[in-house]
Amino acid sequence: MFRLIVVFCAVLVVARAQTTKVNQCINSRGPLPINAYVQGCAEPPCQLPQLQNVVIDVIFRAPRTITNMTTLASASFNFIIGVSIPYDLGENSKTCNFFTNSFCPIREGEVVQYRLQMFIESFFVVGTLANAEFRIVDNDRNREVIWCIRLPIQITPPLPAITNGNEEQNPTPVLVAN
Ligand SMILES: *[C@@H]1O[C@H](CO)[C@@H](O)[C@H](O)[C@H]1NC(C)=O
Repeated sequence: MFRLIVVFCAVLVVARAQTTKVNQCINSRGPLPINAYVQGCAEPPCQLPQLQNVVIDVIFRAPRTITNMTTLASASFNFIIGVSIPYDLGENSKTCNFFTNSFCPIREGEVVQYRLQMFIESFFVVGTLANAEFRIVDNDRNREVIWCIRLPIQITPPLPAITNGNEEQNPTPVLVAN
């Protein structure tokens, strides 16, 4: 009965949430979460502007009680052979700090809402197409993958800054895409 209620609630949450079409990972094993939504992107490749965070809302069911997790990111590029490069998310890798409906430890069967953020640095070259993989791993179980998502992304120039009337004397730098 409890299981039924959990599943029903999960379905309700998903029905309300928006969704991005993400794929199963290739470079690391791990199931897909219940839902993933890259804000502003329903259909990949997701356009990610420099100088701001990409925000990914993930809903997943805890497969067991877990006390400590880390979020890992990597990007793969197709040169002559495929190359996968890990990217350190810094503070954003501390998964437990970014649950919006819960906190660690999470309990078996719990449906957790998690907000993943990653800053798109200016040194990510505009126009770059890559396959990004994001996953969370269980630190108490030798980094076993809890879930993983894969999606094509493309880096775009920064969005124009939103300014108000008082700031108009300051020249706004104009950034032009190649
Ligand atoms: C969680 O695991 C990481 C990586 O093993 C470790 O650095 C960190 O101290 C742990 N955090 C807690 C609260 O145990």
